Amino acid sequence: MDQWANASGINRRALLRRAGTAAAGLMALPLSACEARNSLLNADGAGANPLAIPKLDQGIVEQGERVFRLSISAGRKEFAPGVVSPTIGVNAPYLGPTLEMRRGERVRLHVDNGLDEGATVHWHGFELPAAADGGPHQLIRPGARWSPSFEVRQRASLYWYHSHLHRGTGPQVYAGLAAPIYVRDDEEDALDLPSEYGVDDIPLIVQDRLLDNSGKLLYPHNMHAQMMGVRGDRIYVNGTHNAVFDARTGLLRLRILNGSNARFYDFSLSRGQTMQIIASDGGLLERPHAVRSLRLAPGERTQILIDLSEGRPLSLVATSPDNSMGMMGGDGGGMMGGGMGRRRDDARMDEPFRALDIRPAGSSPRRILPPQLAALPALNPSLAVRTRRFVLDMGMMGGGMSINGASMDMNVINERVPVGQWEIWEIANASMMAHPFHIHNAQFRVIDRNGRTPPPLETGYKDTIIVDPREQVRLLLRFEEHTDPDLPYMYHCHILEHEDAGMMGQFVVAKS
Ligand code: C2O
Ligand code: CU
Ligand code: CU
Repeated sequence: MDQWANASGINRRALLRRAGTAAAGLMALPLSACEARNSLLNADGAGANPLAIPKLDQGIVEQGERVFRLSISAGRKEFAPGVVSPTIGVNAPYLGPTLEMRRGERVRLHVDNGLDEGATVHWHGFELPAAADGGPHQLIRPGARWSPSFEVRQRASLYWYHSHLHRGTGPQVYAGLAAPIYVRDDEEDALDLPSEYGVDDIPLIVQDRLLDNSGKLLYPHNMHAQMMGVRGDRIYVNGTHNAVFDARTGLLRLRILNGSNARFYDFSLSRGQTMQIIASDGGLLERPHAVRSLRLAPGERTQILIDLSEGRPLSLVATSPDNSMGMMGGDGGGMMGGGMGRRRDDARMDEPFRALDIRPAGSSPRRILPPQLAALPALNPSLAVRTRRFVLDMGMMGGGMSINGASMDMNVINERVPVGQWEIWEIANASMMAHPFHIHNAQFRVIDRNGRTPPPLETGYKDTIIVDPREQVRLLLRFEEHTDPDLPYMYHCHILEHEDAGMMGQFVVAKS
């Protein structure tokens, strides 16, 4: 069965699918000269498409390991009806299956690179040996197979896998090399949260995409796109534009991944309804938090519960906070865009748009949301034996993407971190844009933001954290195992164009 079988137009797409050069064509497309119109909302919801749900892949248990077979290949997809664009997918034309695994088990992933360019696959959010991390040092050459194996030590949550190609992560993720991972565990199972995959427990990979005038996927390569990050004006959820999901009444659990290259979102529900945040990147929070809106930057995840017991349709809506440098005079205005009209390659999205329409019907088991979700260890910064400081900067006009003044160099280990010791990582932002700072091989706790206690979503475990301009965020973390004197892990900005341009550094976890 095709993974995206409930997406519209799948048969035509399947016929059109054939091996070809995906990424190459994608990059060569010219920018269109004229100004784009925002096609954020079709006002009445007409023409909504059934939400594609990634196929659930539970692997096969062989000799005590859960084994997954992933093959990366070029695909094709209609981002606009009738117009086919080259893509990259994993066991699918675009994006890939949701990998389901359990805490405590050993997994092995056979990753075949069927592209005609190198690729990597990184397991975002996982604590694992550096050799299994899938960062820039684990290059999979065209035609080659990479078979990392590791023990799943993460708490139950939504994680994800995506390309981490050196200087090529942005275009590969944009073309589709990204997909969810579900980790389950006994603790969470005991809570009776909605957990029927594709029914009341849904992954939502939220991505913006830019199309050229002919309707083809466009990935601009220019200084402006590098500086601001590539942002589109059409929102796709699991690859579906104008998505609608037919839900059961009752509690619906949405696991949201901001899988966009650069765009931040403020999510809320239509009619001002509250949603319950139950989890951050690294699993359940201590208790649910009722909120009206929540912000996710690229790389970040959350899980929310929505009460559909009234059976009335509603929408997950979003606005996109401005994340442009003050000197640019707002998205696309000011110096770069002034006099030329708004740039086609930096779409603004000022108006709220619907990410997903939800139509409840039928009935489902009555569930009570537990008042307590998880027991998290008390946050104790005095455990830390040292503080490391990381200053994010962009240089003049984005020409100097750096951390602590250094741009990513594969041959330089920037930090040596002793295993087993608590540390405070102080992340400061010297630039005029917000950056989502991500650390590999860690789930950290947030101590404070400019000395203030963090918001609800940041009270649990995180691996990616927004650092606003002139802000300083303090994190508490410890690397518990997996030492390697040579092979590094990464820390970086998760605006992928910033990462590709060098806002990334390397650390090894060393024997103490
Ligand atoms: Cu999600 Cu280093 O990446
Ligand atoms: Cu990561
Ligand atoms: Cu950045």
